[in-house]
Amino acid sequence: MASQEIPCNDSKQEFFGKKTCCVITGASKGIGRTIVVELAKWFSESNSDDSKSLTLVLSARDEAALNELASNLRSEHGIESLVVKGSLDDTGVLESFEQTFEKLSSLVPPFDKVVIIHNAASLGDPKQLVEGFSSHDLEQIDGYLRLNVSSVIALNGAFLTKFAAIEQKAVINITSLLAIQAMKGTSLYSIGKAAREAYIRALVCENPKVRVLNYSPGPVQTDMVVPLANDSHNQAFFSNKANLLTTLQTVTKFVGILKENTFENGATVDYFGRLKIEDNN
Ligand SMILES: NC(=O)c1ccc[n+]([C@@H]2O[C@H](COP(=O)([O-])OP(=O)(O)OC[C@H]3O[C@@H](n4cnc5c(N)ncnc54)[C@H](OP(=O)(O)O)[C@@H]3O)[C@@H](O)[C@H]2O)c1
Repeated sequence: MASQEIPCNDSKQEFFGKKTCCVITGASKGIGRTIVVELAKWFSESNSDDSKSLTLVLSARDEAALNELASNLRSEHGIESLVVKGSLDDTGVLESFEQTFEKLSSLVPPFDKVVIIHNAASLGDPKQLVEGFSSHDLEQIDGYLRLNVSSVIALNGAFLTKFAAIEQKAVINITSLLAIQAMKGTSLYSIGKAAREAYIRALVCENPKVRVLNYSPGPVQTDMVVPLANDSHNQAFFSNKANLLTTLQTVTKFVGILKENTFENGATVDYFGRLKIEDNN
């Protein structure tokens, strides 16, 4: 049976439960930071009677940026955050996540909803063509995949296991059109995003009760596109600001999708309305 035919029993429910925990990687800047800010605003607006609580787990390498964000969330919205600092390709950081999940899963009363947003990613060297790889680059290739694929698999496994007792779970993967479309110089990036989407299909197949979404944000003006704009095979496109969305534009769309909550479980939705991969064929 195709995974899409299996209904997810969470599809009609609100994004925020009575007591929600939301984990987000790559929260220090760019799209991830704006997701946190906009989710916090939405939560505050929808919680006028203070009947709900939201706990955030913010992760990235830039601890100062995460602490500043956590402090703003506390003062502006009364939202508490935990910070998990470090590089996602570091086993010790993944162990910190496991300890954090364990602590959060033992709280009383328990969370009734837990969400993880796999947003962190790296671009790689956008100048490196496929013939530019050789035996000397195995470590670089492994390192890229460790950060952008392996860590997602390990972190998500820990999330599902440690929060096994919590019925309402949602997993969101920030993907890219490059998961299904080639662009000169970004083969590793495409491979990473395609592998993450394949992993998400397996997740939906094996865990039909988990609410799952791939969101593809479109080309967005963040630090990630700076090397593409400055020196790449796609410089003309990425150096033209008219081609790039702001983080607020894409995150407003993303939050709108979560508010509506009518997407097919496991769907890939992008800023420009690509509802499913099949729709592109
Ligand atoms: N911008 C675009 O045009 C575009 C298009 C399609 C898809 N996307 C996707 O959108 C997501 C966000 O990208 P963005 O444009 O916002 O990029 P960004 O501004 O470069 O932000 C990337 C985030 O990931 C974190 N990160 C990077 N390396 C990390 C590591 N080794 N360990 C832990 N965290 C790490 C960064 O934090 P630290 O540096 O503090 O660690 C940062 O918070 C990514 O999945 C990207 O592939 C972006």
